[in-house]
Amino acid sequence: MIIAVDGPSASGKGTLARALAEHFKLEHLDTGSLYRCVALSMQLAGHNFQDEALAIKAAHHLVPELINHPALRTETIGAGASIVSAYPAVRQALLQFQRDFAHSPSGAVLDGRDIGTVVCPDADAKIFLTAAVDVRARRREQELIECGMPQPYLTILADLNKRDERDASRPTAPLKAAPDALLLDSSNLGKENTIVEAIRLINTHLLQKVRLTSEQS
Ligand code: DC
Repeated sequence: MIIAVDGPSASGKGTLARALAEHFKLEHLDTGSLYRCVALSMQLAGHNFQDEALAIKAAHHLVPELINHPALRTETIGAGASIVSAYPAVRQALLQFQRDFAHSPSGAVLDGRDIGTVVCPDADAKIFLTAAVDVRARRREQELIECGMPQPYLTILADLNKRDERDASRPTAPLKAAPDALLLDSSNLGKENTIVEAIRLINTHLLQKVRLTSEQS
């Protein structure tokens, strides 16, 4: 089974995808961390995120150890990942790894921006998780406080708006819901209720698929 979870920054995709992986006993891949690794390796080498040729080179020589680097989750690397992920050849370089992971024998949950549309268009279930931008900014503000890197709310809000705009407007694999995605707005839901609602949506969807298949045969 493959489950795709897509949505904008700070929508809670990561938390939801991890919970779904645990619930359905699947592997989990946070695909944003791959783009973050590309951005981080460029930053560590002193390169500019705007240098497309070097970004492509970094994507072809991904350093797996960077996944555990303390700077991977910083706002600078998040913004860098958003920039390098717009280069089509960077996306192409990371595509097969994601597809191979999705097709691992135990099944997988992948979260990102283009999982339901490009990486796994045939996923068994696709969730598109959204939340109002001010709600996402408040959640990110809280996360940053908790990890000891507080930032002003208005700076976070402006960064999120910029990132949403960049991720959704790029020509290659933009952030958007697949036509067959199950839409889930978590603006008024807590973490637990979002997980419960996503599991309910997926189970209903899988049941409908089974019914349709048995009616057709
Ligand atoms: O989910 P995240 O914040 O870790 O992602 C960082 C950036 O990577 C995001 O702004 C856009 C890019 N990304 C992407 O283009 N496609 C994906 N499947 C995942 C992330």
